[in-house]
Amino acid sequence: MTQLIQTLIAEIDRLPGERLFGRVVGVRGLVVEIGGVQGNLSVGDRVRILTRDHRAIPCEVVGFRAGQALLLPFRGVDGVGLGCRAELTESAPMLHPADGWLGRVINAFGEAVDGKEPMPLGERAYPVRAQPPPAHRRQRVGGKLDLGVRALNTFLTCCRGQRMGIFAGSGVGKSTILSMLIRHSAAEVVVIGLVGERGREAREFIEDDLGEAGLARSVVVLATSDESPLMRRQAAHATLTVAEYFRDQGKHVLCLMDSVTRFAMAQREISLSAGEPPASKGYTPSVFAELPRLLERAGPGVPGTGSITGLFTVLVEGDDHNEPVSDAVRGILDGHIVLDRAIAERGRYPAINILRSVSRTMPACNTPDQNQLVNAARRIITTYEDMAELIRLGAYRAGSNAEVDAAIHYYPMIDTFLAQTREEATDLATGYDRLRAILESRPEAGPADPGAAPTPGAG
Ligand SMILES: Nc1ncnc2c1ncn2[C@@H]1O[C@H](COP(=O)(O)OP(=O)(O)O)[C@@H](O)[C@H]1O
Ligand SMILES: [Mg+2]
Repeated sequence: MTQLIQTLIAEIDRLPGERLFGRVVGVRGLVVEIGGVQGNLSVGDRVRILTRDHRAIPCEVVGFRAGQALLLPFRGVDGVGLGCRAELTESAPMLHPADGWLGRVINAFGEAVDGKEPMPLGERAYPVRAQPPPAHRRQRVGGKLDLGVRALNTFLTCCRGQRMGIFAGSGVGKSTILSMLIRHSAAEVVVIGLVGERGREAREFIEDDLGEAGLARSVVVLATSDESPLMRRQAAHATLTVAEYFRDQGKHVLCLMDSVTRFAMAQREISLSAGEPPASKGYTPSVFAELPRLLERAGPGVPGTGSITGLFTVLVEGDDHNEPVSDAVRGILDGHIVLDRAIAERGRYPAINILRSVSRTMPACNTPDQNQLVNAARRIITTYEDMAELIRLGAYRAGSNAEVDAAIHYYPMIDTFLAQTREEATDLATGYDRLRAILESRPEAGPADPGAAPTPGAG
């Protein structure tokens, strides 16, 4: 009962006091021009257009031209004509998240899209486009977050409140790694934004990869590729809004977004419609202004709250890691995880390229012992990969270099260690123990330690 009353109070609070309105004076493609209220509007405001057949189409102000306000619709513009009434609604879009959102799938407006009952509404309104907490009030990045994936836990340790990018081409295992994080990580709540994927992929992800257990402690915010760019952009922001709600409850939240690239593309579509000229590879300058406004919302909270650890996927088309969105995202985040097609093709999943990935909280978050372990293993991978071509061709003669001999011995074991099936979880301590056991295993012949003095005549 109290829940119902709270919901009603929240609904009443959301009703606007007075209603200003203008009229549609033009429609160009998806852009609707309205006149009469442009003096009361600013970019980002919400307007509701009433169609001739009495439907309300939610729109957002995206710009101004020749004295008219330019609007984009959240849903198609069918039925909009000259003279249609355009009403101002609440100026800043809000969500009312609640604990009851766990286990649910919502759209960019916070409406249920999983066919279950309507979403319960929390008491407090959370702005969809919130400002990140001021830098000076933010706590420092916290202790390690157990991600349950041993390649990440050991080589790319992630701390509470850290922001990382997952860079990958299509089909290299992004969705699978996200589903492992959802099921195996030690985060208390997981908020997942699925932005701009095809409907079938999103459905498969929710039903198969996530499963009941994964969904139970998650909230999924969904905007598929067929939805308007405004819906896709807002879904990305709404994901952070829901994460902020749980953070303010003192929870350690894992926020996953697939993908930031599709968010950037939505922003590009919106700004091109508003007449912004493209700059870098067809992306408009506002794309690069919007990316930090989204990504900076993840991170540690102010004292007394929890944290949002963010993992954001970035699509690298044609495996080009230098395209502008990748570059911009890499500059904002505290580390990047590179998934490598060549590794996936030889069947090692997750296909993380350890040498090309970094976590910027390392080595500070580790004990000296852990750093030594990880560095020794990295050195083995480097040595082996430098020599891989010669080794494969049979051009390397065993015994000519002790470090290479050691790398040949240890590399396959490290490679096996890095592989992990999607059902398997490995906690932080077990990951280090397994890596230590590998490096302490003695080769039957040849030098024992990586980096030991060459033993003449070995092999
Ligand atoms: N941990 C894993 N174990 C086994 N196979 C995997 C693993 N991760 C990915 N794969 C394989 O790679 C394919 C593509 O992975 P997916 O996560 O859907 O890629 P993406 O989301 O990047 O398009 C999967 O269908 C599966 O065959
Ligand atoms: Mg996928």
